[in-house]
Amino acid sequence: MPEDSMDKPSIVTCTAPVNIAVIKYWGKRDEDLILPINSSLSVTLHQDQLKTTTTVAISRSFQEDRLWLNGKEEDITHQRLQSCLREIRRLTRKRRTDGDARSTDSVGLSHKVHICSVNNFPTAAGLASSAAGFACLVYTLAQAFGVEGELSGIARQGSGSACRSMYGGFVQWIMGSKDDGKDSVAQQVEPESHWPELRILVLVASSERKPIGSTSGMQTSVQTSLLLQHRAEAIVPRRMVDMIEAVRRKDFPAFAELTMKDSNQFHATCLDTHPPIFYLNSVSQQIIHLVHRYNKYCGETRVAYSFDAGPNAVIFILQQFVPEFVQLVQHFFPPDRNGEDFIKGLPVKCAALPMELKQNIGLEPVPKGINYIISTKAGPGPRVVDDPSQHLLSAEGLPKKTV
Ligand code: DP6
Repeated sequence: MPEDSMDKPSIVTCTAPVNIAVIKYWGKRDEDLILPINSSLSVTLHQDQLKTTTTVAISRSFQEDRLWLNGKEEDITHQRLQSCLREIRRLTRKRRTDGDARSTDSVGLSHKVHICSVNNFPTAAGLASSAAGFACLVYTLAQAFGVEGELSGIARQGSGSACRSMYGGFVQWIMGSKDDGKDSVAQQVEPESHWPELRILVLVASSERKPIGSTSGMQTSVQTSLLLQHRAEAIVPRRMVDMIEAVRRKDFPAFAELTMKDSNQFHATCLDTHPPIFYLNSVSQQIIHLVHRYNKYCGETRVAYSFDAGPNAVIFILQQFVPEFVQLVQHFFPPDRNGEDFIKGLPVKCAALPMELKQNIGLEPVPKGINYIISTKAGPGPRVVDDPSQHLLSAEGLPKKTV
């Protein structure tokens, strides 16, 4: 490369998805390496609705590593960020020593990086952004340094659930057994094209308070909950096998039952934690009742729910039943705004609600209990953005605009 162009940063932009676990990860056996006490399985959500975009610029003229998140400069010395940066640089060095042609280019290992990252969904919505964020960081850094291959083990060191966002479709995080964590990685079970009829609805609940974070929550659970120990040892191994089987066969009732049971068991371990942790609120409980009563009325399992470390419900449902179920949600949680604004993402057709169905559900409506619905489906893993106009950093390596 000519001397004068060496000062120009090399810039790469990528996007990465959010994932929702249907077999939950809760509890670490190693806090530093982020090694879990059980395996888990998730569905990667489509990036058309929810994604993180990250730009990495590398230049020998940068004085220090810097990071901007959603328009604000943040402290890059954060331990988990440093782990990811260190591991990517270690991998780059290793590939170069091993003589990998792709990584012997001009990007200097001693050069500093500028990182800029934004989410296309409001952080205030309470959706876990750390999985998409760390997956995107690791994927983009790897592209910038020219390293390929297994990267989920590095994303895992940013945030456990981030390792599953490194793949699209249905993804398992195999807990592994080695002390160094080398075998604790994510693996695709089926691609996003496998089950096209499956739809996912994120019901964003209105909530004022910020619940306790997953990192400290699971720490207390590991220390105090015998139920969590029992779950990890005796329940999850069998459930992983059954869930993989249900996904492979596209057996919705089996998938739905396991999803709901696992979400409920996770929240039971939170209640068994001392002092207890409550992530579900009264709206979450109403949604749980609604789903079970709807399934009962239909005489088959058509809908499943799953809740993470917050009150938002994630609904799994086959495409053909979406209009009626959304109508039902709108009936029992009458929104503040008009119907169009209430549903974001994939369009949902209108449906009539039989009077008998409404009466059968028999719940008291909760006005404004749900803020809005994001309608989506399973989607692909991280992607490189080819269009340079999409870079979040300028040719000087500074954020183009505040977001
Ligand atoms: C309830 O991955 O956010 O969403 O590894 O400490 O960063 P750290 O925790 P995190 O935990 C996610 C917990 C969960 C379940 C799941 O995604 O499996």
